[in-house]
Amino acid sequence: MEAKNQLFDHVAQLLDEVKAYAINDAASLEQFRIRFLGSKNILKDVFAGIKDVPNERKKEFGQQVNAVKQLAEQRFSELEAQFKQKETDNGADVDVTRPSQTKPAGARHPVTLVKDELMQIFIRLNYTVVDGPEIEDDWHNFSALGMPEDHPARDMQDTFYVSTEPPVLLRTHTSNVQIRVMDALRKSGKQPPVRIVALGRTYRNETISARAHCTFNQIELLYIDEGVTFADMKQTLLYLAQELYGEKTTIRLRPSYFPFTEPSAEMDVSCFVCGGNGCAICKHSGWVEIGGCGMVDPVVLENCGIDSEKYTGFAFGFGLERIAILKYKINDIRLFTENDLRFLKQFEHL
Ligand code: DAH
Repeated sequence: MEAKNQLFDHVAQLLDEVKAYAINDAASLEQFRIRFLGSKNILKDVFAGIKDVPNERKKEFGQQVNAVKQLAEQRFSELEAQFKQKETDNGADVDVTRPSQTKPAGARHPVTLVKDELMQIFIRLNYTVVDGPEIEDDWHNFSALGMPEDHPARDMQDTFYVSTEPPVLLRTHTSNVQIRVMDALRKSGKQPPVRIVALGRTYRNETISARAHCTFNQIELLYIDEGVTFADMKQTLLYLAQELYGEKTTIRLRPSYFPFTEPSAEMDVSCFVCGGNGCAICKHSGWVEIGGCGMVDPVVLENCGIDSEKYTGFAFGFGLERIAILKYKINDIRLFTENDLRFLKQFEHL
């Protein structure tokens, strides 16, 4: 009888032990597992004593041993989950099948969006996209474009000089690329056609305000071949306007002056906000000014060694910020260069 009570006492002790077992890390959890749940666990030994228990108490004995086992299993599974989580947090246990945490990809700058769109439009028309230097000499930025020294038109573009003798400057427009491209053509011994588009940064010594900035971007287009006419230019501009602002858009050309084109014009598009009825964007005129264009002045062609009797061409130059301002209804040109995330984030979905 004594021996049998001892067996029951032992089981009760084990139950207390399971309850009180101090498990505070993965190592002590493993000790606990080996003692109570391992292949040679102590409960197996205790259970083997059942043969000495009288029949009428065998069931009770079995139940008590089982209760210890169940409690041990319960504690083990709870703590195992807890320690597993800790290990994962420490990076010890990496689940490569888990979906990754996505990081914000950032947004494209509105000027980049406009640049890309314009590039696509002219690539479809078989134009070649070219680049030119932002630091330029006087010849490519001014003189070759019909603006020799002391020409009053130079005053239209207040210039940042890097050095004055010889004059090196930050280009005031992308029209320098016209000269670069024609120079390269001459050097390679080739003749027109020339069909290029250039997009890039330009600089002017302007006081910064909501409407003007000392740095901005332009698109420049140049097409030279035999028999290129003003009508070709007009059709290209109409196509551009409709691609940018929709099929219903129309254009108008107003006489203007540029030293490198003759005749010269200013292009307006019908207001794409009000459809020409008049609104705040078009200042109730129904038209929005986009930029300058014209037939390449024969002087410019001759400056670059192109026979102006044989070849004609057209060119235009527009401000990209202006196109973006109208397209995305931006009211301050300074926003383009301030890198304010609240502004830039608005273009995330585009
Ligand atoms: N370069 C001129 C400017 O920045 C814009 C321009 C006008 C470019 C007429 C052209 C053109 O190619 O034909 O104000």
